[in-house]
Amino acid sequence: MQVPERVTICEVGTRDGFQIEPDFIPTEQKVEIVNVLSEAGVPRIEVTSFVHPKAVPQLRDAEAVMASIRRRPGTRYAALVPNDKGASRAVDAGVDVIHTVVSASESHNLANVNMTIAESIDKLRAVARIADRAGVRVQCGISTSFGCPFEGDVPLEQLESVVTRLVDLGARGIGLADTTGMANPRQVATVLERLMPRFPGVEWTLHTHDTRAMAIPNVLAALACGVTNLDASIGGLGGCPFAPGASGNVCTEDLVHCLHAMGVATGIDLDRLVAVARRVEQIVGRALPGQIIKAGPSTRRYPVPDAVAGRLKAS
Ligand code: COA
Ligand code: ZN
Repeated sequence: MQVPERVTICEVGTRDGFQIEPDFIPTEQKVEIVNVLSEAGVPRIEVTSFVHPKAVPQLRDAEAVMASIRRRPGTRYAALVPNDKGASRAVDAGVDVIHTVVSASESHNLANVNMTIAESIDKLRAVARIADRAGVRVQCGISTSFGCPFEGDVPLEQLESVVTRLVDLGARGIGLADTTGMANPRQVATVLERLMPRFPGVEWTLHTHDTRAMAIPNVLAALACGVTNLDASIGGLGGCPFAPGASGNVCTEDLVHCLHAMGVATGIDLDRLVAVARRVEQIVGRALPGQIIKAGPSTRRYPVPDAVAGRLKAS
């Protein structure tokens, strides 16, 4: 099976995850989680989002979080922004990377950011200018790339048209997001096999949600196509508040475990990551969907029962 030697993981739990938690997570706990993720060696963290505080009140402390995190050399700190106002706030807050958002389907884009796709792209042009002036990178995410909870199938031509417009405004990194876990592995391969050769300069990221237990299978399909950038959420937190039926992202520690088991490097310390997931469970006050936190890694061993040990010795 074809797998890359190395994959770059972007942790999105403090954004995609914390944005949908029913209770506001105190700023110092958000900062603590970003810091321990950095210490675990996570190379990219989407720390927060600079959106309207009424739209996502859970992340209304974006400036305060960015101001208090401890930056580890080797980790890039990003934030999600929908428009020029968000970009200015993010640049002022000192992000390394701006992650923009637009959907491949009109209804989700309207529900999410109150703009048509064309209006969003106009705003993203302004975002690109602001980022350029500040020397900040931009990576463009496309929500509902593999299906929309309102419209169903999103034709590949429609997705491709959004990609084309983003590339035209200078995007070199594009993230395809499966916002509500509608993608399947064969579809992921079909989409990537079409888009990757058409936009050879683009670095692709896959952003998955495990809503229908297909996140890791979808990741494997993307790896086979040559994608080496993956988004994931600690503990499997996550979900878009403006997409009905949304649930958590692929769980970071489960994904890292899977990759390491296959010999794919991530630079992340799995034991530390599991400790972070435990701390996040404490903070949100419930068990999270991750499996490794319960099962331990596949290298875990149990003591041989006495009766079995006796027979082993005798044989
Ligand atoms: N941060 C803070 N305030 C913002 C803002 C931002 N990024 N963008 C716009 N505003 C303010 C404007 O300054 C304006 O303020 P005023 O009334 O005091 O003049 C007000 O919001 C309305 O601006 P407008 O451009 O009309 O925004 P809107 O009400 O149509 O909302 C978004 C558009 C994009 C700001 C809003 O829908 C949003 O924040 N969505 C968040 C989506 C999200 O995070 N989804 C989950 C992740 S995918
Ligand atoms: Zn998401």
